[in-house]
Amino acid sequence: MKVLQVGAEVFPLVKTGGLADVLGALPQALVAAGADVRLLLPGFPAILAGLKKPVVVCEIGAAFGAARVRLLRGTIAASGISAYVVDAPYYYQRTGNPYLGADGLEWSDNAQRFALLGWVAAHVAAGGLDPAWTPDVLHAHDWHAGMACAYLAANQSATVATVYTVHNLAYQGLFDAKDFHLLGLPVRFMDPTRLEYHGKFSFMKAGLTHAQRVTTVSPSYAAEIATTEFGCGLDGVVRSRGADVSGILNGVDDAVWDPAADKDITTPYSASQLAGKAVCKAALQKELGLQVDATRPLFTLVSRLTQQKGLDLVLDAIPEMLAAGAQLAVQGSGDAALEKAFTEAAAAHPGQVAVRLGYDEKFAHQMIAGADAMLVPSRFEPCGLTQLYALRYGTVPVVRRVGGLIDTVVDTSEASLQDDTATGFMFGPANKEALALAVHRTVQAFGQPAVWAQLQQRGMAQNFSWAAAATQYLALYETLCQPAKAPATAKK
Ligand code: ADP
Ligand code: GLC
Repeated sequence: MKVLQVGAEVFPLVKTGGLADVLGALPQALVAAGADVRLLLPGFPAILAGLKKPVVVCEIGAAFGAARVRLLRGTIAASGISAYVVDAPYYYQRTGNPYLGADGLEWSDNAQRFALLGWVAAHVAAGGLDPAWTPDVLHAHDWHAGMACAYLAANQSATVATVYTVHNLAYQGLFDAKDFHLLGLPVRFMDPTRLEYHGKFSFMKAGLTHAQRVTTVSPSYAAEIATTEFGCGLDGVVRSRGADVSGILNGVDDAVWDPAADKDITTPYSASQLAGKAVCKAALQKELGLQVDATRPLFTLVSRLTQQKGLDLVLDAIPEMLAAGAQLAVQGSGDAALEKAFTEAAAAHPGQVAVRLGYDEKFAHQMIAGADAMLVPSRFEPCGLTQLYALRYGTVPVVRRVGGLIDTVVDTSEASLQDDTATGFMFGPANKEALALAVHRTVQAFGQPAVWAQLQQRGMAQNFSWAAAATQYLALYETLCQPAKAPATAKK
């Protein structure tokens, strides 16, 4: 089974969130399961720099207004995965965030930048750009790669199967209708059943309507995106795909997230040797200027600072959290108003609330290892990875009952303690009272060492493996590669 995975980020080279972790780990798990997997990525500076032994596969020439586009192929050093890279300096040789300029606004030519990515992917997948390798399946991730599915649909002779994975329906790649001509697609694609979305066109919709199968990163989110509450205006499109939409839960990359072998944390530890975790906690408290006190439950939060993550609830609940005896440590970057609010909260509560702004992979490991509990109060959460990392590190997750958080955390109750399933704490309503109550319950459990140890041990024993996800993706690919059995509901 030959699979081309197409996306805009890959850990450890370019990462703005969990998408990178997925594209770093899933290809390796698919290879371990016997598939022949290649990645296709935009030639951002960090990706070109991280590509080992690059060779030019094809001189594409001028495309989408860029004078020189080349297709390179090399190996991602960290994983050994083979990767095609679209080398188009005019569009991708820009430092900083892959999607935004230094002003924090989206690059004004994002339509061309990511249409090019999809166009090259479609041409590799249809055969031709690399005569030596043609995939059986093209698997595109998020709006950045969604156009690959539309270009393949426009190519009547392409036979490759297509899968599109939604990591976050809120980011839709929406562009002005006046730019549609830049895509080089027939005008019939500017139609509500294809790319057109309320007078604009959407790359997310291109993937949703043209891929043979649509997946998302948890079963609960797969159900949620068919509702108006979570569908971000695309729920009707999702519903129209019916049973073609399914959820496959993300996993944890054990090579990166393993407290027993983690070089980024103060002292390694394991479920049978938890003493190191206390050392990590003391080191984190010291590093952040928090009161160094083993008896105070330390809640942590590692997150993009965006509306999605429900961080305003945490800001509102800080007085209640501190009254309950908790400490709070926040690591994040993003929304300027949230950065300011957390900075002010830390200044108002020295020794009890700390914030570390910015993006720092190594420190994220220290935050997760050193904390007692991890807050994930998201308004919506397609899967969520930090709660999975927390579980692996014996850090008890406190999460909102939504999306992938539902599928990965079991709320603590008398019943779930008795039947040996409890792993964390959950709350429903998106308000500070509900969050504060969950924090209160967590603090109470922290005060009962036997209960707390039970939660930690069970969390660390959970198995969210990429192998399980890879098996499900492979089964899906295989269904599509037997055309007689696969109903062709996607558009050509
Ligand atoms: P999302 O993709 O919506 O941001 P996930 O929970 O799936 O949420 O993944 C977030 C990833 O980004 C995790 O690997 C987390 O550790 C990482 N992360 C988020 N914020 C930061 C930060 N400020 N510094 C380092 N890593 C971060
Ligand atoms: C998105 C989602 C997050 C998910 C990640 C990886 O960024 O917000 O919930 O874990 O993608 O699939």
